Amino acid sequence: MERTLVLIKPDGVKRQLIGEIISFYERKNLKISYLKMIKADREVAENHYIEHAGRDYFDKLIEYITEDKIVAMIIEGENAVKIVRKINGVTDPLEADMGSIRGKYGLSKQRNLVHASDSIESAEREISIWFSELKL
Ligand code: CDP
Ligand code: MG
Repeated sequence: MERTLVLIKPDGVKRQLIGEIISFYERKNLKISYLKMIKADREVAENHYIEHAGRDYFDKLIEYITEDKIVAMIIEGENAVKIVRKINGVTDPLEADMGSIRGKYGLSKQRNLVHASDSIESAEREISIWFSELKL
């Protein structure tokens, strides 16, 4: 079964959208196999977003992800990587489909509520970062 790494970013937690967001995935019959609420430290956040290092938005992105608690999940299901990216919607909420999480609730290109792995390889890398305690 395919799996992917999802984060509910600090704005999603603070706006009390955890239940709403998780419902999108569950209603599509995806399975939440691991879930935890944590405050990310800088090192973990930078490793997670390493491919964005050097971009003009990088420092602000790391500040945002580490500003408050987030929810980290491993989600499983057939084609989970692609389906979860569709459910989340494209990066900029202004461009995202209104039926997606970002289209419906996102407020800016930065504060866009959720993260999901963009490939099976990214998913495995990100799962090992956020769930290093699990020998999966
Ligand atoms: O999250 P997604 O894969 O859709 O987008 P990305 O292009 O991989 O960027 C990662 C994250 O960086 C986004 O979700 C935004 O939170 C942030 N970002 C930003 O603040 N400003 C940008 N111009 C692009 C991305
Ligand atoms: Mg990305």
